[in-house]
Amino acid sequence: MQPDHLHDVLIIGSGAAGLTVALHLPADICVTVLSKGSLDEGSTRFAQGGIAAVLDSQDSIEAHVEDTLVAGVGLCHKDTVRFTVERGKQSIQWLVDQGVDFTKAEIDDDGEEVLHLTQEGGHSHRRVIHSADATGKAVSTSLIDQARQRDNIVLLTGRMAVNLIWEADIETRKKRCIGAYILNNANGKVELHLARFVVLATGGASKAYLYTSNPDGASGDGIAMAWRAGCRVANLEFNQFHPTCLYHPRAKSFLLTEALRGEGAKLRLPDGSTFMEHFDERAELAPRDIVARAIDHEMKRLGSDCVYLDISHKPTDFVTSHFPTVYKRCLKFGFDITKEPIPVVPAAHYTCGGIMVDLNGHTDLQNLYAVGETSFTGLHGANRMASNSLLECFVFAKAAADHIAARLQQVKIPGSAASWDESRVTDSDEDVVISHNWDEVRRFMWDYVGIVRTDKRLQRARTRIELLQREIREYYDNYKISNDLLELRNLATVAELIIRSAMQRKESRGLHFTLDYPEAYPQARDTILIPENFAGLDVMIN
Ligand code: FAD
Ligand code: SIN
Repeated sequence: MQPDHLHDVLIIGSGAAGLTVALHLPADICVTVLSKGSLDEGSTRFAQGGIAAVLDSQDSIEAHVEDTLVAGVGLCHKDTVRFTVERGKQSIQWLVDQGVDFTKAEIDDDGEEVLHLTQEGGHSHRRVIHSADATGKAVSTSLIDQARQRDNIVLLTGRMAVNLIWEADIETRKKRCIGAYILNNANGKVELHLARFVVLATGGASKAYLYTSNPDGASGDGIAMAWRAGCRVANLEFNQFHPTCLYHPRAKSFLLTEALRGEGAKLRLPDGSTFMEHFDERAELAPRDIVARAIDHEMKRLGSDCVYLDISHKPTDFVTSHFPTVYKRCLKFGFDITKEPIPVVPAAHYTCGGIMVDLNGHTDLQNLYAVGETSFTGLHGANRMASNSLLECFVFAKAAADHIAARLQQVKIPGSAASWDESRVTDSDEDVVISHNWDEVRRFMWDYVGIVRTDKRLQRARTRIELLQREIREYYDNYKISNDLLELRNLATVAELIIRSAMQRKESRGLHFTLDYPEAYPQARDTILIPENFAGLDVMIN
């Protein structure tokens, strides 16, 4: 079947990772960027704190590397950490060139304007470049503007990738990715998109948890698609919980940036006393796993629904100019951060594991790349340090774009593939199954696979996910697909992978804390899951 769309590079996802790949690719090839919603619907637009990079003369690459390794609790890949950190400064310069309006500090001794650097947990220096407390919005707006100006980049919204398409390469005997089936929300049709290269930039999977700082689309689609296509995934047990999300029934876990603590905010118990100093000498600026676990511990000890974040001791002008988004949002819910402590709870925030890639962002499947939160590069280890995520997006997006550009001559445009077969499915008459199962997965993941785990809780989660997976598979086989069904199917796959990974790790390290194995292994090792149809194996060709 001839494709509905043919591209040199098909990029699935329009956040920091996807758009950065597109903008770094040569301007004379056809690039398409898809988003299942609007272009700015992913996590990128909601990023607050900023982007970590070494810009200050008092700071050093060595210090940023060391802080990342310490936060990652021995599990970071050292080569990846150095690779990423060394490219921090050039990534920031590239963003400035794209028009991102970062907050400036002052004029330096040479009369130059320098960027303001803020502080976050785990960082030994001020090294977080930001745009007040709405860094993601500034980045997203600029990158979308730039992409719109490029004749070779097509931006498609309301297109949801369903499955990747691959074929066997006769010469190399390897499987190679040649495109994807894409659901067009405007007409409900599944389109056939073929491409020389496919890039997954689909973001994380924190929506697997009931309470999350992430937008609704964070359902781990890329991880699930890559797994189904035969790619390995790693370290999915390390889901990061952000310590401070607003506790309010209508706030949908709105994030209160870690930069608040970087600028002096204190965590307090309901009686007003501080407690972080009892858990770690870095107190409020300890890495996130430690702070989230301390809050969880105190809430359980006191039977309290939340703890409090307090920056009211700082001058009002300082607070409103550094944190205008947080200030206005909290005010909407009746809290004035300049005057009172704000109720906060931890919520699922970031997927540290993901699709295994090399330093070019290349996966196990030929011509398939994965970039950004969906990928596993080895940077974050057992706990991501604040503001290293956006940095990883920019560094690996450029690396992937450069790698694709260098291979353009070698990879032919694929000719054809089977079109989507809808002959055996009917319209669904019971959508309640989807909403019920969606809710159930997220609830038991929160209860059993959350901040503190045990073997028993993980086993309970495993039994439930296996049951749900069967039900979802049956539903998928019999009914026409919709966004909700596809997201549920992907979320359930990723939940299963998280549970399986957590069950394999018989130690406590970073974000994976289990009462049954409180000690860490003497030697840190990754949890790697290999699918039955592993794409790394040679294919039999008759
Ligand atoms: P996203 O920005 O999430 O984009 C994913 C894209 O993929 C979207 O366009 C989505 O529509 C699309 N997509 C997904 N599935 C499909 C599909 N099946 N078909 C088609 N399209 C699909 N990190 C930092 O470093 N610093 C911060 O200050 C910071 N603050 C944060 C604050 C919040 C509230 C949140 C939620 C995260 C924050 N993070 C921060 C993390 C960081 O923002 C994300 O890790 C990063 O933006 C991920 O970028 P991405 O491009 O990989 O994915
Ligand atoms: C924040 O601003 O607290 C989020 C930073 C991050 O996730 O890196």
